[in-house]
Order: sequence, then C-alpha cells, then structure tokens
Amino acid sequence: MTIQAAWDRLHGEAARLKTLHLRDLFAGDADRFETLSFRDTDLTLDLSKEKLDRQALDALLELARAAGVESLRDRMAAGEAVNSTEGRPVLHMALRGSIKAPAGDDVEGVLERFLAFAESVRDGSFAGSGGAFTDVINIGIGGSDLGPVMAARALRPDCDGPRLHFAANVDGAHLADIAAGLNPARTLVIVSSKTFTTLETMANAQLARDWLGIHAKEQMAAVSVNLSGCADFGIPSGRVFGFWDWVGGRYSIWSAIGLSLAIGIGAGKFRAFLAGAAALDRHFLKAPLAENLPVLLALTGVWRRNLMGWPSVALIPYDQRLERFPAYVQQLDMESNGKRIRRDGTPVTGGTGPIVWGEPGTNAQHSFFQLLHQGSDVVPVDFIAAARPRAADPNRHALLLANCLAQGQALAFGRTGEEAAAEMRAAGKPEEEIARLVPHRTFPGDRPSTTILFRALDPFSLGRLIALFEHKVFVQGAIWQVNSYDQWGVELGKTLAGALIPALREGAAVEADASTAGLLAHLKDLLA
Ligand code: F6P
Repeated sequence: MTIQAAWDRLHGEAARLKTLHLRDLFAGDADRFETLSFRDTDLTLDLSKEKLDRQALDALLELARAAGVESLRDRMAAGEAVNSTEGRPVLHMALRGSIKAPAGDDVEGVLERFLAFAESVRDGSFAGSGGAFTDVINIGIGGSDLGPVMAARALRPDCDGPRLHFAANVDGAHLADIAAGLNPARTLVIVSSKTFTTLETMANAQLARDWLGIHAKEQMAAVSVNLSGCADFGIPSGRVFGFWDWVGGRYSIWSAIGLSLAIGIGAGKFRAFLAGAAALDRHFLKAPLAENLPVLLALTGVWRRNLMGWPSVALIPYDQRLERFPAYVQQLDMESNGKRIRRDGTPVTGGTGPIVWGEPGTNAQHSFFQLLHQGSDVVPVDFIAAARPRAADPNRHALLLANCLAQGQALAFGRTGEEAAAEMRAAGKPEEEIARLVPHRTFPGDRPSTTILFRALDPFSLGRLIALFEHKVFVQGAIWQVNSYDQWGVELGKTLAGALIPALREGAAVEADASTAGLLAHLKDLLA
C-alpha cells in the first residue's frame, strides 16, 4: 500500500468515528479494554479511551508499514546517518548497550570512568577543600539540564548522595539563588554542555568559577563532546567526561550528561536506569508493530493530530516526583518533531509535532482541567501513573490513583444534561434553578485520553518510560518524514540575541526593526 492510500483509508476511518461518541464505542464493544490495551511486563498502555477502534488501529498500522517505520528504525540501529541534515548517525541506544557504537567509541570505558568518579564523590574519596562534597551543581541547559533534573526529582528516594542542584537559565538569579545557601568549599560544579559553547551554560560556568574562587581549580568537572573547549576553560582532563556527536542533546541523559544523577543515585542504580531503557529498546526493536508500545503510542498521536485535528497534548503524570517529566518530553518531542520541512526538503502538507504541555495531577485538576472538560477545544491527555508508591503512604496513593482514573472517565463519558438534572433534582433543587444551571453542569465527554501504568517509579522503570517516549517521537518523525534529530529552529534567536547584547550592555547603537528599536530605547530609559 502507498503512503497516500494509507492516509486515504485513515480519513475514511476518521469520518466514521467522528460520528460516534466514546460512550457509543464502549457500548458497542464489551471487549474494548482487552482489544485496545497493550502490555510489556508491567508496563501497560491503555488506548481504550481514545477515539479509535481496532479497525482504525489496523489502518494506522498500515500507515506505519507504508511509511517504512521498520526500515528507518533498523537503519538507525545499524548506525546509518539517519540525521540527514547533519550527516550523523543517531545512536543513543548504544549508550545503554542495545546497539553497537561506532568502532573506537568506548562507551563502556567512559561509563565506567564517570561512574567511578560519581562513586568517589559519594564516598568522599574525592572531596572539596572543606571536606566531602555536600552539594553538586550541574550547569547546563536543554538536554544538558532537563534529563538530569527530571530524573533526579523522579528518583528522589534513591538520591542518597550529596544534594543535587541544577542551574540552567542565563538569568543570573538562577545560579545566585542556588549558590546562596551553599558552602563553596564543599560544592562540586559540573559544567554539562555537548558543544561547550552554549551562551547560557558558558555564562553560568564563569559565574560559578568566580563563586568557587580559590576552590575552582579542584572543584569543577565537565561533560562535553568538545574536549578542547573544556581544557581551554581550565578543567583538567581527569575530570572531563566525553561523549559523541551521535548523541543528540535531548537524548543525552544516558551519557556522561547523567553524571550529576549518577552522583545522586550511585553507579548500581544508574546502571539499572540504563537497563530499563535497554529493556524498552529490545521491545521496540523486536516486537511486531501491532504489539509495539512506542509504535502504538506514536500512532495514537498521529490519529489525534492528523485525523482528528487536535494539535495539543496534555501530559499529566499522577506522580509528584515526575513534576519535570512534561518539561522533559516537551523538549524531546517539540525540538525533535517541531518541523515543517520533510527529509527530502519539501514542505509537509499536514500537521507534525504537537504542542506538549502539562503538570502533575492532582494539582492540574485545580488549574487547567476546567478547560479540558468543558473548554471549546479538545485536548487529548496522556496520564502516567505508578501502581505502588515509593516512600509514601499507600492510602494516600489510592487517593492519587482514584483521581487519575476518574479524570479519564469524566473526559471520556462526561455527564449528560439529563444526568445533571437528575442529580440536582435528587439534591432537592427547584426546577427553575435546574433549568438555568443544567447547560453549565453538563460535561460533553467524548474527550480522549491514554493511560500509561507501571508498577513503581524506580530507576529501571524511569529509564523504560523515557525510552518509550524517545521511540514514540522517532516513529512519529518517520511517519511525518521529518528529521527528528536536528534543531535549526533554535539558531536564529541565538544569532539575533548576540547582535543585541552590545545595545543592552553598553548602549551601543544597533540596527533593528522599529519595534525592537523602540523597546531598546524604552529599556535604556528604564535603566537610566
Ligand atoms: O536548544 C538547543 C540545544 O542545542 C539543545 O538541543 C541542547 O540540548 C541545548 O541547546 C544545550 O546544548 P549544549 O549541550 O551544547 O550546551
């Protein structure tokens, strides 16, 4: 089947399903959960509350086949330069031992080195001038920040090393607020940057070096592909940990970019984190498409985006420790698939990467869920929850899970006008008030959600969860035919900012459009 024929078939399926409410789909199929939920060991993906059915899913699988998802996956795993605009292979799976790294790139050697360094920080055999390190600051941004900070918060019960801090923003307040409570004689600073040229990171690294003062020489480490940049900055090679061009920034948590996390959780648990991702890699590389969790998650996203016309996704972990997971996936997804030109250089004709956003439940229920339930736009939701709590009360966890499941129910089935009226009547409300309030108290329902469940949030399951989203992004990029591994879209703003710095620092005259010139003039007045 050609790609076009697969899309044509899908449009037919979508037209059929648009006429049905999720209530109808459940009423018409008693086995809907069995048909549309999928599992790999304890990891469960429930698609039964999505506005699709087996026939539509089969059509989506045909699209995946027609788009060559499997062959692109196998070419990526074989080390071909699937990052076509930068001429590079995409081998983050090699960092967790799932596929081969290029000859000569000693993944295991670097892993052993940085894990040994992490252990020496943890056991105090490598210490600051004031004694064993009490605090570690990771300086980095984007992929050099979001992975470690997200994982360190997610694995809080496993973090039994020095306290971990993460400074990213070029806003000096970020590092200043972190450093305010710390003793420079007992703080290790890790500068994490693939390129070692990123404006924010280099500015913060200089600030941190000044703050460390006489301790800077002995208490800084670096993680980068740019080893000479680290040397020029003055960090000795014994405390520099490299990685490779074939690791994209947003896929780098598995490399030495994970050093701060490794210091927090220790070498054994860091290896368990890698093993979790490797388990999902094996599944992704081997499971048939129809049972392949990242493929199914991706196809559901394509269905929402291209067939139903919903451009946004709310990612809601019912897990406070996953509070940074939406931000992490935001970079992973939006920097990878926020593209409008296909690999062959032609413009796309439909929607690509969705707008990803979210907050943990139950907090989100008290901020933006009103719009999800009754707003004028449909926003599909991805719920994520662990069955068992870690280091928390099981009774409280039942409250959390009940809320997660209830939100999926409310979105899918809603509350009809008759149900709302009956409820008000039972509460003894007068008919006049019932008539006035029923429209406001009606929930349309028919709003889709996917639920991702697993046993408990630990290093293994976190690694697996991240890999699930990484591979989902890959599959969607393959279907939309974009290169998920470049990020040219971040360049222009960086260049323009560079040109404006002299105007803001020294009041220099710069060429600018009327709006920017006006704002610069106003800022000059405010700064005077
Ligand atoms: O935002 C652009 C980007 O290049 C990301 O892809 C990357 O994760 C981030 O900047 C940080 O880059 P570096 O690790 O080179 O400092």
